Amino acid sequence: MTDTDRQDTASEAVKETGFITAVIRAIENDRPDPYLVDRHAELLSTPRSRAMADEALAAGGTVGSVIVRGRFGDIALARSVADGITQVVCLAAGGDTRAWRLGLPARTTFFEVDLPGQLAAKEALLDPVRDRPSCRRIGLSADLRHDTWPGELHSAGHDPHAPTVWIVEGLLPYLRLDHFTQLIARIREMSASGSVLLVDAPHADYFTDPANESFLAFMESRGSAFRLGLDDFGGFLRRHGWQAEAYTLHALAEGACPWLPTPPARLCPPRDHHWLARARLG
Ligand SMILES: C[S@@+](CC[C@H](N)C(=O)[O-])C[C@H]1O[C@@H](n2cnc3c(N)ncnc32)[C@H](O)[C@@H]1O
Repeated sequence: MTDTDRQDTASEAVKETGFITAVIRAIENDRPDPYLVDRHAELLSTPRSRAMADEALAAGGTVGSVIVRGRFGDIALARSVADGITQVVCLAAGGDTRAWRLGLPARTTFFEVDLPGQLAAKEALLDPVRDRPSCRRIGLSADLRHDTWPGELHSAGHDPHAPTVWIVEGLLPYLRLDHFTQLIARIREMSASGSVLLVDAPHADYFTDPANESFLAFMESRGSAFRLGLDDFGGFLRRHGWQAEAYTLHALAEGACPWLPTPPARLCPPRDHHWLARARLG
């Protein structure tokens, strides 16, 4: 296997994680007491993605960060849109269905960016609800480790002079710190005053907690190793110019976020060391 083959395989395995998280949302949606409602996630739950999710969960994967960031993002996005923001950019969108399910105003443009092939695969699976987005949705293929995506987003109609809601969920574990730092810097440069950034990250403690060893080994073995966690996510975002509120999942379980319904304990187990943040540009 050449280095390029190895990279491609790794990219495929990383792309598949976008469908694993969709299955996790479908399972949550089916509960009698869902914390997150995502009715379209079921359409992304193919037998293959179900089997991948089963394997990940059997290896010790946790679901709380996916489900809680979903609800956190839904509420924060709805508030920003109600405040008048008309541009949304969802980076590493994977199986995100917000453009289809949130009934966003027609004046909203919802950009999605992910690795080549990823959004086309989602669109094919969401064909039964293809007329559902109430907003204008634009999908773009790009590798966010390379600095070409800002130009492509601009060419697709993103206006850096108008405020944007940025959504970056489930991406950071797969990037190196220099790539993530560059990404956050580019987002800052493309953000007008009033912009909002919704972003999550594993906490550094995730990697040192023995309870996560088997899951981390599993992710590495399938070619989608978790690489990166941060110990002070709020500080990281503030150093990059954002006014940030950052919460650990454990703090959210204790009701730390005033605008988020407190997630149930089942979604915040002790070993799920994870950050969720909402940041704004004044
Ligand atoms: C765990 S999934 C998260 C998907 C979605 N945001 C969610 O929360 O369900 C990670 C996503 O990041 C995308 N991704 C990973 N590395 C990327 C890169 N370098 N450029 C663009 N997308 C990337 C994958 O293709 C995948 O869709």
